[in-house]
Amino acid sequence: MKLLFVASECAPFVKTGGLADVIGAVPKSLASMNVSVRVLIPAYPALATVVASGQTVMSFDDLFGGPARIVAAQAEGLDMLLLDAPHLYDRAGNIYLGPDGQDWHDNDLRFAALSYAGAQIGLDGLRGWKPDVINAHDWQAGLVPAYIRQDDRPSPPVVMTIHNIAFQGIFESTRLSALRLNSNLFTKDGVEYFGKISFLKAGLALSHKITTVSPSYAAELLTPEFGMGLDGLLRERHLDLHGILNGIDLDVWNPQTDTSLVATYSVSSLAGKKKNRAELEARFGLSKGDGPLFCVVSRLTSQKGLDMLLDCLPDLVDQGGKLALLGSGDLHLEQAFVDASNRYAGSVGTIIGYDEALSHLIQGGSDAILIPSRFEPCGLTQLYGLRYGTLPIVARTGGLADTVIDANDAALHSECATGIQFAPINAIMFSHAISRTCELYAKPKIWTKMMRRAMRHPVGWDQSAVAYLDVYNSAQER
Ligand code: ADP
Ligand code: GLC
Repeated sequence: MKLLFVASECAPFVKTGGLADVIGAVPKSLASMNVSVRVLIPAYPALATVVASGQTVMSFDDLFGGPARIVAAQAEGLDMLLLDAPHLYDRAGNIYLGPDGQDWHDNDLRFAALSYAGAQIGLDGLRGWKPDVINAHDWQAGLVPAYIRQDDRPSPPVVMTIHNIAFQGIFESTRLSALRLNSNLFTKDGVEYFGKISFLKAGLALSHKITTVSPSYAAELLTPEFGMGLDGLLRERHLDLHGILNGIDLDVWNPQTDTSLVATYSVSSLAGKKKNRAELEARFGLSKGDGPLFCVVSRLTSQKGLDMLLDCLPDLVDQGGKLALLGSGDLHLEQAFVDASNRYAGSVGTIIGYDEALSHLIQGGSDAILIPSRFEPCGLTQLYGLRYGTLPIVARTGGLADTVIDANDAALHSECATGIQFAPINAIMFSHAISRTCELYAKPKIWTKMMRRAMRHPVGWDQSAVAYLDVYNSAQER
């Protein structure tokens, strides 16, 4: 099977969150099942050397305001298609936000162009290579099936994957012609959403199949609480909606080989973890202690629920816990954690920023990772935590609920616990979960068993890649 992925980011080239990790990892697992995946992403400046190593395979005289081309290149074990459109993507800084912290003013054109290019590959093929299925990821690729629908030629089916329904790509209806959308698509069954244009809604309405990144989130999306206005449409299409759990790249995230650690370790030899902890304590200005070292590696936004952690800090510190936090996002949260590290100097350490290597060291050196998300489509940091024996303390929602087994008495007795879950999701229950963690940590035998169990928990892509293949096959049958 030949598959085209269309997405706005892909690790290790360009990453703002878990979407990139997934796009960079799935093609490798699908390859072992005889599925060849080509990944179309914009040629942001970070990809300049990859672009220079490639070959032009499609050209556009005017792609939403300037000439553009698609460059094919092999890099990092991936078969990349890079949409080189300098007028849209050749900008320093964040791929979604301008220097003022606001969305780039032309994000509608930037990601319409990406979708348009994806649709053209599906319709025309690239020098004899034509995808059997297109998998469009998140709102940035949501218009792929819209542009295909506007064309009479035979085209491959489109599978739309929701990584996070909170981001929908909504723009004014006056942009319809600038986006080269036919007015007959501006309907309830097309791109229209309460009088505006919604890229994600278009993708959900016009695709053949829909997937999202965990079974629990698939169920949550059908409710008004989590569906964020699209639950009605998803209820209508629930037979086409599949929740497939994300996995992780087991080569990139491997405590036995990870070059970002000061000491590697494994299930059978855990000693290295202590050395990583010592390094982390030094990096975050933490004093040494016997209590658990908690960590956070996260975007700092309301989704992630870290405002609740601020309320829990006095108790966490009182119980001998330490915290190392790496994150960036909302300015008031950044400032609040910087303030907390001053107030609890030696017990709370904050590094504001985005640092891939440090995120690995944090997983390698911490005892537990805190993920109190208000909603979480899948979440990857709890999977990295499992793999690194850093027990996840998670809110019971979405993919967090699907991947962590709570250490209640029954689960401890039957030896299946891998972390701690809490619900309802509020600061009181979160604080209670932190206390439970401190109590368990004080019982080294039980804790070490849980670490080993967590590290053996399957978190790779094998099973989920088979599930994706099933969806691609059934999309083709439609
Ligand atoms: P989301 O995609 O909603 O942000 P995920 O848990 O799926 O959440 O993925 C987040 C990814 O981004 C993980 O790979 C995590 O390690 C990484 N990450 C988040 N914040 C940072 C940061 N400040 N520095 C380095 N990596 C980060
Ligand atoms: C989104 C979600 C996150 C998920 C990631 C990859 O960013 O917020 O839960 O793990 O996409 O699918």
